[in-house]
Amino acid sequence: MKAITKTKYGGPEVLQLEEVEKPYLKDGHILVKVIANSANPADWHSLRGEPFFARFSFGLFKPKDKILGADFSGIVEAVGKNVEQFKVGDRVFGESLQGGAFAEYTCAAANVCALMPAAASFPEMAAVPIAGLTALQSLITHGKLKRGESVLINGSSGGVGHFTVQIAKAYGAKVTAVCSSKNIEFVKILGADQVIAYDKENISQHDGKYDLIIDTHGNLSHQDYKRMGKRGVMVGFTTMGNMLSVLINTAFSKFPLAQFTAEANTKDLETLATLIQDKKIKAHLEKTYSYHEIPEAIRYIEAMHTKGKVAMVWGN
Ligand SMILES: NC(=O)c1ccc[n+]([C@@H]2O[C@H](COP(=O)([O-])OP(=O)(O)OC[C@H]3O[C@@H](n4cnc5c(N)ncnc54)[C@H](OP(=O)(O)O)[C@@H]3O)[C@@H](O)[C@H]2O)c1
Repeated sequence: MKAITKTKYGGPEVLQLEEVEKPYLKDGHILVKVIANSANPADWHSLRGEPFFARFSFGLFKPKDKILGADFSGIVEAVGKNVEQFKVGDRVFGESLQGGAFAEYTCAAANVCALMPAAASFPEMAAVPIAGLTALQSLITHGKLKRGESVLINGSSGGVGHFTVQIAKAYGAKVTAVCSSKNIEFVKILGADQVIAYDKENISQHDGKYDLIIDTHGNLSHQDYKRMGKRGVMVGFTTMGNMLSVLINTAFSKFPLAQFTAEANTKDLETLATLIQDKKIKAHLEKTYSYHEIPEAIRYIEAMHTKGKVAMVWGN
C-alpha cells in the first residue's frame, strides 16, 4: 500500500510517499481502508521531534513510527478478535495511535473509533478526532461547563478552537471568541456571541469576567486566567517558558486551572458524531489536499493560522 513515511526527524521535506506493507490486524483492532485524513499540530511535532523531551516517546534519535498521522476516516476492511461494535463495510472515523494513519490502510484500536453519521462526508469526519475530542474534553471533562455559563475561548478559529466555539454554544454557553480580525466573521458564523480581535485589543489588558477560560493558542499567563476567569483550561502552548510559568503558578495557587492531553475514546467520538448528525456542530474544511500533497498540507498547518481544519483524501 502507499503511505507517507519518515525515517528521520525534519520538516515536511523529509516525508516520502512510498510502498509499504499493509498493516496486520491485531486483536481488539479494525483494519480500515482510509478515505481521508486530517492534519494536526501533533503531526509536525512528531515529524520534527519537537519539543525535544517528546523524543522520549517519539524515539530518541529517529522516529519510532514510520508512517505519519493519526486522524482518519474510512471503511472497515477487516475486524479483529474481540471486536463486536464494528463490521466489515462500516464507515468509521477515529485515531491511529500507533502505526500511523497517513496511508491507504490503517489498523486502529476499536475503542478509539466510532461510526460516522449517515450523511457526513469522509473528509469532514477525518477532521474531527483530535481537534473535536480536545474541544469537547476541554469544555466538558476538564472545564466542567454548565448551561448558561460564560466562556472565553482564546484561539477560536483554528482546528480545536472552531469546534470549541460550536460545542460551547451547543451546551448552552455564552461565548466570547478571541481571534485575528480576518476571522471575526467566521467565528460569528460558528456562533460566538462576542469577538475580541487579538490584533486590535491586547488580551492581557482585557478586563472581561468569565466563568471559564479556554486557551487553545497557549499565550495566556497565569495572571490572565486569574484576572478574567473563575477557572481555566490550558490546551496548547506557544513557548515552553510560558507553559512552565503557568504550571508552576498553578501549583502554588488555589486558582482551578487544568492542563490535559486529549484522550481518544469511542464514547466521546460518538458524542461528537451525534452533535454533527444533529447539525449542532460542523467541521469547517479550509483546504482539502490529495494524499500526495500531504507534505504541503503539513507545511500549511505549521503556520498555526488554519481557519478550521485541513483534510487530505486518498484515491487517484
Ligand atoms: N492538549 C491537547 O491534548 C491538545 C490537542 C490538540 C491540540 N493541542 C494544541 O492546541 C493548539 C491549537 O491546535 P489547533 O489544531 O487548533 O491549531 P491551529 O488549527 O493551527 O489553530 C491555531 C489557532 O491559533 C490562533 N492564533 C494565532 N495567534 C494567536 C494569538 N496571538 N492569539 C490568539 N489566537 C491566536 C490562530 O488564529 P488566527 O489565524 O486568527 O491568528 C488559529 O486559529 C496547538 O498548540 C496544539 O498543539 C493540544
